[in-house]
Amino acid sequence: MALKFNAPSDPTYRTEADIAKINEDPGFGVHFTDHMARIDWSEDEGWVDPRLIEYGPIPMDPAGAVFHYAQEAFEGLKAYHREDGSIWLFRPERNAARFFNSSKRLALPQLPVDDFVQAVRELTRLDARWVPKEGEKSLYLRPFSIATESFLGVRPSKTVAFCVIASPVGAYFSGGVKPVDIWVESHLSRVSNGGTGDAKCGGNYAASLVPEETAFAHGCNQVMFVDNAEHRWVEELGGMNFLMITKNDELVTPPLNGNILPGVTRDSLLTIAPEMGLKPVERPIDIAEVYAGMDDGTISELFACGTAAVVTPIGSLTNEQGRHDMAVPADGGRTIALRNYLLDVQYGRREDTRGWTQ
Ligand code: COI
Repeated sequence: MALKFNAPSDPTYRTEADIAKINEDPGFGVHFTDHMARIDWSEDEGWVDPRLIEYGPIPMDPAGAVFHYAQEAFEGLKAYHREDGSIWLFRPERNAARFFNSSKRLALPQLPVDDFVQAVRELTRLDARWVPKEGEKSLYLRPFSIATESFLGVRPSKTVAFCVIASPVGAYFSGGVKPVDIWVESHLSRVSNGGTGDAKCGGNYAASLVPEETAFAHGCNQVMFVDNAEHRWVEELGGMNFLMITKNDELVTPPLNGNILPGVTRDSLLTIAPEMGLKPVERPIDIAEVYAGMDDGTISELFACGTAAVVTPIGSLTNEQGRHDMAVPADGGRTIALRNYLLDVQYGRREDTRGWTQ
């Protein structure tokens, strides 16, 4: 049965002019809408008190478990404003299902898929004014669960808060859709076998920060991780999946081996690939093969994808031994064709949106 969210009595906070100003150049994840959704959970009562409340601090005890043991999971999805004024979500049930799995891995209670989708829908509806109307901007929705029990013993928290916040966003990389330069990390890992690599949880991202700083220090925009055991097999970037297009028309990406986030964008691209004349291939990718393919031309394009990054071409890979450049086609090539296909579905510019939008 659908949850009953209470609604705040005054649903209007910032003025239309304030919102329009922010949405001119929203950046990524720096502005937040007027409201948030929240549902509490306790071992005794289960999920209770679904509500839409004013956006603001979450008062918590300093002994709250999430501060100490990082028991939390999160998601990222977007709402899109279409030309006819309607607002649409893209495959929210996929994020809900992934969040269910991430929560399980983090010993958090698993919010039913329908309740997750409903919370996202209710917040989007209430803060619809915030969904940017122009350009390829959108409203980024960030659902998350945190362990709220005040307790320093190491065991799953008996109380949890699930919240959804929303942020109008433009491009994830400040340069827009320009090719990005990637640093290939050879020593530090994001995750390891049997760890939390396929769960979307803060710890994975925390582990990516020092390598990301190294990437920045080398003039790169993002870090790429290879496997933890042999430092050889490509896994993913700091916050997005990795794909490559080969001369023989394959769209290749590493398989979901437990260390890779099952990206909704990744899945969508593999699904639409045949329509773009590409054969989707999920197989282990040796980083040495990538360097060789870039140098001898058997690889024609490389790109990163994710909800935040959408599809972003990769212009180079650098490691301690040196830099390999990828010639990015002047018209953006198939990377940009894939990106446009996806955006056309998301913004409803294609007649057939594959049942992916609601
Ligand atoms: C997303 O793509 O939604 C993510 O969560 C990645 C994060 C780096 C913003």
